[in-house]
Amino acid sequence: MAKSTLVVTRRLYNDVYAQLAAAFDVIADNQAADQPWDADTMCRHIAQADYLLCSVADKIDASVIAAATRLKLIATGAVGVNNIDAASCRARGIRLTNTPDVLTETTADFGFALMMATARRIPESERYARAGQWNGWAFDQFAGRDLHHATLGIIGMGRIGSAIARRAQGFSMNVLYHNRTESRDATGAQWVSREQLLKASDFVMVVVPYNQETHHLIDASALALMKPSAVLINIARGGVVDDQALIAALRQKTIAAAGLDVFENEPRFDPTFLAFENVVITPHIASSSSATRRAMMQLAVDNLMAHVQGLPLKTPVF
Ligand code: DGY
Repeated sequence: MAKSTLVVTRRLYNDVYAQLAAAFDVIADNQAADQPWDADTMCRHIAQADYLLCSVADKIDASVIAAATRLKLIATGAVGVNNIDAASCRARGIRLTNTPDVLTETTADFGFALMMATARRIPESERYARAGQWNGWAFDQFAGRDLHHATLGIIGMGRIGSAIARRAQGFSMNVLYHNRTESRDATGAQWVSREQLLKASDFVMVVVPYNQETHHLIDASALALMKPSAVLINIARGGVVDDQALIAALRQKTIAAAGLDVFENEPRFDPTFLAFENVVITPHIASSSSATRRAMMQLAVDNLMAHVQGLPLKTPVF
C-alpha cells in the first residue's frame, strides 16, 4: 500500500525521525538547516502533505491551510496551538494534536529557575564576574530578593501553574492564583481576583495560553497595579504581556524586574530589553530539557501513527 506523505517542518532527533521514515514518505528538507520556512516554501510543501508535523515556530495560518488540499492532520510538537489557525482547520475537517502533560514538570522547573535567576540577579552577577570586574566581597553586592516566604501570584492555574505552585510550597511561599473561574486548587493556593493578585504579589508568574482573550492581559493598567518591588515572569507566550507597556514600567521603575522566556515578535524581540540589567532574557526554552523535547517529538509521532493506523488520537485538540 502506498505510504501517506508527511511534511516535517523542523529537525527531529534521529531515532524519532527514523520511526517516521519507516511509516511515511517524508518531506523534510529542513533537517540540516532547521530554520523556519518562508510562507512560499511552507505552502509548496504542504500542498503535497497528508500529514504535517510542525513546531511552535511555524505559522500555520489560513493561507497555509488553503494550500493544504490533502491535509488530514497536524501534529504540533508543543502544547500551545496559537500559531495554528484552528478555525480554518476545523472548517476543512483537519484534525489537530498537541503535546500536553509531557512538558508540565520541565516547564514548571524552568518557571521556577527563571524566577530565581531574576530574583537573585544570577545572569547579571555572572556577566560581572566573567567580565573580570569582581574585585572583592561587599555586603550589598548583587543583593537580590528572597523567594522564601514571599507571595507568588500565578496567572493561569492549569497543569503547569499547579506544578509551579507545588514547587513554591517547598520554598514556604504564599501562593495566590487567578483563573477566569474560581476553582479549588489541590496545592492549597488561594484564588483571588486578577486585581488582588497583581496588587499583593512579590512575584507574578504568567502561565496562560495565548488567544484573543489573553492578548495583552498584562498591559499598562495591569503593570500599574503591581508593587514597585515586584517581579514579572512570563513563560506563557509573547503577546500575553504588552512588551511596550512592560518596557515603560521598567523604565519608570514601577516594577522591579522581569524574567522573560517569550516575547512579542520573537525571535526578533524589542532590543530595548537588552539595556535592562534587571531583565533576564531566555529564548523560549521553558520546555527544553533533552528528555522533554524528546517526549514532545515522540507524542507528536504517536499521534501521527495513531491516525494512520485508524486508532484514537493520543492527545487531540480536536
Ligand atoms: C509549548 O509547548 O507550547 C512550548 O511553548 C514549546 O516550546
